[in-house]
Amino acid sequence: MAVARLRQALPLTQRCTYFQTGSLGPTPAPALDEMAQARAELQWRGPAALDLLRKWLQRGETARSGLAALLGVTPDNIAWTVNTSQGIRDVVRGLGWAAGDEILTSDLEHVGTRGLWEGLTQALGVRVRVVAAGATDDGFLERLRRAYSPRTRLLFLSHVSCVNGQRLPIAQAIADARERGVLTAMDGAQAVGQFAVNVAELGADFYIGSAHKWLLGPMGLGYVVVAPSALAQFNPALTPLDPAPDAVPLSAARRAEVGTTDVSLRVGLARTLELLAEVGWDVLEDQMRQVTACLRAGLAELPGVQTLAPLPWLHSSAITSFVVQGWDAARHQALVDELYATERIIIKFQPEFAGIRVSTAGFNTQDDVDHLLTALRPRLP
Ligand SMILES: Cc1ncc(COP(=O)(O)O)c(C=O)c1O
Repeated sequence: MAVARLRQALPLTQRCTYFQTGSLGPTPAPALDEMAQARAELQWRGPAALDLLRKWLQRGETARSGLAALLGVTPDNIAWTVNTSQGIRDVVRGLGWAAGDEILTSDLEHVGTRGLWEGLTQALGVRVRVVAAGATDDGFLERLRRAYSPRTRLLFLSHVSCVNGQRLPIAQAIADARERGVLTAMDGAQAVGQFAVNVAELGADFYIGSAHKWLLGPMGLGYVVVAPSALAQFNPALTPLDPAPDAVPLSAARRAEVGTTDVSLRVGLARTLELLAEVGWDVLEDQMRQVTACLRAGLAELPGVQTLAPLPWLHSSAITSFVVQGWDAARHQALVDELYATERIIIKFQPEFAGIRVSTAGFNTQDDVDHLLTALRPRLP
């Protein structure tokens, strides 16, 4: 019932079969309406009209408090940024690198992050050690432990990989890094909104994500959660800090957010978070778990289809990646294009393994999965 209400708020569910929330989640209509209301009111009655500006800025702040409650932190710990990629750069660039310093990471990171490592290596001589995630948590954790060196300064991991949907054992990895005095930054872009994430309990120094994926928020808003103990290492805007020794440290927001911004994005996220809480985060996770299981069971029966990392829910997520054996990248891309053109099914070509990625969000149903499987069957070799 609750899922049906969410679908009603997402008109695209009547027009297409959408499996691309891992890239861009759709924003519910009531949130789009409130964003439009904020923009219109400010334009019609004065963008700097004090009462209106205050009203919408305050409404925008409820996105910060809503997100903080969802992530188990306080609003002061959250700084807005434009997306995950920028948030990661806000964190990493501020750490003050010397040639030979090392970053420890996995082989399942996002292409944008891999680009950052290349840039850091070129510009500053930082070494990046990439550790294979493999199929078991224990194996991965052991390989990570062996990869530390006296020069390791940062452990960077995706909570959930955008490549194959694998959930990495970040709680233990963070604990291991802390024992060694190594900072930790986690990429939560594919995790938050899929299952409960308590950032304070995880103990990460930095946890970064975007509003526009599984949180179904608007595009153009990302966040960095900064642990109180890591505040001293976070100042991307070079905000002057209070020199008084007993001064309260400036919040993450004060250190990162400068200049004028579009408050309607925060307003949209605030409304979306309220709506998803009304549906129920547990209900949404349950729906994702069940629909993902249906999809994987269906894919397993299709000839020539090989699912990557088909792990149980607690080790995976609502991202399912697969390849059709014997097909090259172009053939997979052609299938993605054809399913869109003929069936209005929206899935993703995933370049890392030249295959296909399907994201089953909380608004997706068994009927959506049946549509995809029925469309796939006659098109396979
Ligand atoms: C794990 C991961 N990190 C980072 C990103 C980049 O996110 P954004 O486009 O919000 O910068 C993505 C996007 O798909 C992702 O999946």
